[in-house]
Amino acid sequence: MGYRVRPEAYGEALHEVYDRMYPGEDTAGAVEFLASLVKPGAKVVEFGAGTGRLAVPLAERGLTVHAVDASPSMLDKLRANDPGGTITTECADIAECKGDGTFDLCYLVCNTLFMVPDAERQIEVLRRAAEHVVPGGHVVVEVYEPTGLHRYGRPFVQVRHLSHDQIMIDHTDVDPLRQLLVQVHSVVGGGKVTNYTELSRYAFPRELDLMARLAGLGHEARYGDWRGGEFTHGARSHVTVYRRRT
Ligand SMILES: C[S@@+](CC[C@H](N)C(=O)[O-])C[C@H]1O[C@@H](n2cnc3c(N)ncnc32)[C@H](O)[C@@H]1O
Repeated sequence: MGYRVRPEAYGEALHEVYDRMYPGEDTAGAVEFLASLVKPGAKVVEFGAGTGRLAVPLAERGLTVHAVDASPSMLDKLRANDPGGTITTECADIAECKGDGTFDLCYLVCNTLFMVPDAERQIEVLRRAAEHVVPGGHVVVEVYEPTGLHRYGRPFVQVRHLSHDQIMIDHTDVDPLRQLLVQVHSVVGGGKVTNYTELSRYAFPRELDLMARLAGLGHEARYGDWRGGEFTHGARSHVTVYRRRT
């Protein structure tokens, strides 16, 4: 029996600070990469679209973007970031949203696949992604490479700077046998602390390829970053391109 979390819980807890949590993300590179996979004006769908970090610039480039997310608050922010209303939104669990096979590309970035903390359900997410795209259509997954996590041997703490008077303290506990992370995100500022505990499940690259194969996706390419860099030993994350087989 795998673990279940409320799919909207992360976004509902962290939507106020989310846009300041990942200042180092190569958003421009990701937009360029994803746009390069499809023809101008293509139909694309983002699973776990959040506040529209990628969905908005892709729509601005003329792609027809559909954004799926389980958190109403994240989608509110996405719509606020898309004043022209060109992006269609769907509030749904990415393990359950049915696809109609009409999209040219489905993408899940920033470790969103790992936020579904159960292997079988992660395969379901990949099935839903495959189901959304046309035969031969692309599915792109960006996740971290977890090997380094197994070296810690004990819980560890990291601190993120959110603003001049707000920080996030992340306490991370790794369960290497079950490939689970328990992370307590504590937002500290304005004289108060709020905590959110996130449970996630990581997968290794070859495992991910097998899961994708079970979902009807064939592996096409793997890169160490959004600029097409080689995926080498020690890489912290990867961008993997799959294609729907039939
Ligand atoms: C790490 S954020 C990534 C957001 C956006 N893709 C980006 O790159 O900035 C993950 C997003 O996935 C959503 N999410 C997590 N689990 C989900 C699920 N099971 N179904 C739908 N959305 C989910 C969260 O609400 C959040 O907005």
